[in-house]
Amino acid sequence: MGARAIEWLDGRLRILDQSRLPREQIFADLDNYHDVNLAIKEMKVRGAPAIGVAAAYGIALGASGIKTTNKDEFLAQLNQVMQVFAASRPTAVNLFQAIDRMKKAARGDGVTEIKNSLVNEAKRIHQEEVTATRQLSQLGAELIKDGFTLLTHCNAGPLATAGYGTALGVIKAAKEQGKKVSVFATETRPLLQGARLTTWELRQEGIPVTLITDSMAGHFMQQKKIDCVIVGADRIAANGDVANKIGTYTLAVLAKESKIPFYVAAPTSTIDLSLSSGDEISIEERSPDEVTHIQGVLIAPEGIDVANPAFDVTPHSYITAIITEKGIIREPYTEGLKEIGSRFS
Ligand code: MRU
Repeated sequence: MGARAIEWLDGRLRILDQSRLPREQIFADLDNYHDVNLAIKEMKVRGAPAIGVAAAYGIALGASGIKTTNKDEFLAQLNQVMQVFAASRPTAVNLFQAIDRMKKAARGDGVTEIKNSLVNEAKRIHQEEVTATRQLSQLGAELIKDGFTLLTHCNAGPLATAGYGTALGVIKAAKEQGKKVSVFATETRPLLQGARLTTWELRQEGIPVTLITDSMAGHFMQQKKIDCVIVGADRIAANGDVANKIGTYTLAVLAKESKIPFYVAAPTSTIDLSLSSGDEISIEERSPDEVTHIQGVLIAPEGIDVANPAFDVTPHSYITAIITEKGIIREPYTEGLKEIGSRFS
């Protein structure tokens, strides 16, 4: 794909503003950590691996803006910067893994050395996501047969990963292997990541894509138009339960009922072995405006009660396989996930 979602330009972070796609391709150059944090909160940068990468660069920017040369004072202020990012979005574990990594990288004799070390660590985290998403895509593509039609939800492409993509990465790699593939993309209410971003990315890849509303998925599975479902993940618990964009659980239940494989593709930075099951995953609740409005237009009575959980949890029993850069894992997930571990732990 052409435009890079996240690019480090020595002292600035260039992001492609995903909230404006596909209507406008606007790049924003962020030179301070407040702006990076806001970009994450406002979902200008989104998708679990991309959030982790952006936060890492944001912390490096935050560090570079700290004026003191006293190491203890510097570390105290750096800790505050990290806390700001930790409060941005709660569900994707990649964010917290990246913050932990940056915390560990804050070492050196003096402040300048630590600042350099943080920039280098952020670059490393970014590069690792590029490599991991490329590898998992190649592994996952082996599961995709020539002529397959896949259904995907939300957006799990290069935009969401700052790399090659996860669910879309697998689809792209299958095409690269010479397989003919096509995709049904759910629009993904309320913020339309499927309609706005997945269709945009797949079109650039020359992969045929049909956009459907979220409520059409069961119909097309029943009509035997879908060969498998493939999605990304925001957090995978030790037992294989997966948090992903709201609506994923519904698709997994429908896939099981329709006897269609349901695959999750994620780098090991998305695995959280500290949580024994998905019940412990914190689910982000976002603004009611996202449900009462579409692209700024009010579509419901003003003041109506709204629920807006951004993610749901799919129990591991609905998941046919989890595709990671270290291998494809199937039941029993507890054993497989423990063996490969989280890249960051
Ligand atoms: O709220 P978002 O758009 O950040 O949610 C993103 C998703 O749920 C993706 O499916 C997930 O992060 C996987 S991205 C490779």
